[in-house]
Amino acid sequence: MALNKAPAGTGGTLLMLPGDGIGPEVMAVARRAIDWFGARGRFSFEVEEDLVGGASYDAHGAPLTDGTLDKALAADAVLFGAVGGPKWDGLDFSLKPERGLLGLRKEMGLFANLRPASVFPALADASSLKAGLVSGLDIVIVRELTGGVYFGEPRGVEDIGGGERRGVNTLVYTTPEIRRVGRVAFELARKRDGRVCSVDKANVLEATLLWREEMAGLGAEEYPDVALSHMYVDNAAMQLVRDPGQFDVIVTTNMFGDILSDCAAMLTGSLGMLPSASLGAEKDGRTPALYEPVHGSAPDIAGKDLANPLAMVSSVSMMLRYSFGLREDADLLDAAVSGLLSSGLRTADIMQDGKTEVSTGAMADALIGELDRRAARG
Ligand code: IPM
Ligand code: MG
Repeated sequence: MALNKAPAGTGGTLLMLPGDGIGPEVMAVARRAIDWFGARGRFSFEVEEDLVGGASYDAHGAPLTDGTLDKALAADAVLFGAVGGPKWDGLDFSLKPERGLLGLRKEMGLFANLRPASVFPALADASSLKAGLVSGLDIVIVRELTGGVYFGEPRGVEDIGGGERRGVNTLVYTTPEIRRVGRVAFELARKRDGRVCSVDKANVLEATLLWREEMAGLGAEEYPDVALSHMYVDNAAMQLVRDPGQFDVIVTTNMFGDILSDCAAMLTGSLGMLPSASLGAEKDGRTPALYEPVHGSAPDIAGKDLANPLAMVSSVSMMLRYSFGLREDADLLDAAVSGLLSSGLRTADIMQDGKTEVSTGAMADALIGELDRRAARG
């Protein structure tokens, strides 16, 4: 685990993969933030940029080329924008933009996806839930990311004759797959409020009954100090909107985590606010890591200077914290984001009465101004 890793010094290699849709626009803001730190000598990254998803398909005929994958494997961290869009809807499954992201996750071994959903005080009113239910909300969803029904075999669509077809996916989990992501969740809970809720569908799906049994075993054997509870996923979805404050760390399967994290994101007021970190197993002192906003490529607003860049900026902050141990810089960036919101600036997705609506570019300018002000204050 890279959590609390010692500072790696002042440098590192970074691969930026902006991708499709609003990906390039929000990545440009991430770049400005990183350059701001670089220009002040706080750290300097060797930054490379490459194509992924539909953009890579258009240029190279594949959503993830071997060359890009090699760069990702060699980098200390990957910053990822978003992939996908209607332009590529008709492509064969193996060529779809999303395969680029899934391929990176699989090949980099990024089995643990951390998706924090915390509410900025200034945004409690932007939630679709009553402010009282979400203010102070601070949940982390730990989503298993390289197994489950996303990757299980057999899979595919086959002809079964008579003009009919059969579609198959397989939900499969093994003990080590469950336990390694469980450890990430338990370790995280130890640094937070000490509570893990493991979400499954153990009343119906054997693979997730195993999930429940392994989580229970792991908790009892290695983390007796952490309070572990179990919840069926349908109930968890309901509880997230009924009383989200009851959760600390949620650990769940790949697909349940996909669904619940969108739901949790909305509690915070906008999908445009949520960052994420995807981490692999530490080897030779290095932990493979990819950071991305939870929001997608939002093709409907792409290229219009409307996207909310703050989830991407917060993803940079997670990267500084987890991959490079640059806690002070991450704190500064987080404080700058909070400051922007407190000052009333809003992109369209989180616009509220009485606030000031700004474009992506204007939000980026304001971010740099906020960093300057805070740095000057010391
Ligand atoms: C996410 C996304 C991806 C997923 C897609 C783009 C493949 O929805 O990261 O949540 O399903 O994992
Ligand atoms: Mg998703």
